[in-house]
Amino acid sequence: MHANVFAAVLSCLVLMSSAAQAQAPAFRKDVLPLLQRQCVACHTTGEEQGQLGLAPTLAYASLVGKAAVQAPMPRVDPGKPERSYLLHKLRGTHLDNGGSGMRMPMGQEQLGAGELGMLAAWIKAGAPDN
Ligand code: HEC
Repeated sequence: MHANVFAAVLSCLVLMSSAAQAQAPAFRKDVLPLLQRQCVACHTTGEEQGQLGLAPTLAYASLVGKAAVQAPMPRVDPGKPERSYLLHKLRGTHLDNGGSGMRMPMGQEQLGAGELGMLAAWIKAGAPDN
């Protein structure tokens, strides 16, 4: 390949990958606000039904790598959205995956495709504590 073309392709790839990184959802900016808005009223300290503490200081440790109560999988398995019970409870696929109970958020409007996609992308990216 001609050197100039190669350099152009390379810089294009670099730009694309940095843009993708900038768009990857972050725990504190994207995930936590959603949990505080829609979930924390029922899931605060972890002593409530569901045993899931989502107060800001507890949320990450309650989710990532932590075994679900209702199903034989973690709540969030870093890198594996399909093995993350949190996502199944929100999509309504929990019953097909060994889980039980209601779809979350209980008694509220279901999350939209954008919010579900954001959570899946965050988990897929390794569920960073960022
Ligand atoms: C109105 C109260 C209420 C709201 C709001 C609510 N939950 Fe729940 N949640 C519960 C109850 C009660 C249970 C246990 C019974 C059940 O699963 O139906 C539960 C169980 C869960 C479980 C299962 C935990 C485990 O380890 O098995 C997850 C995950 C969960 N909720 C996530 C969420 C998320 C995420 C939100 C916000 C988007 C949310 N919930 C909003 C009441 C609520």
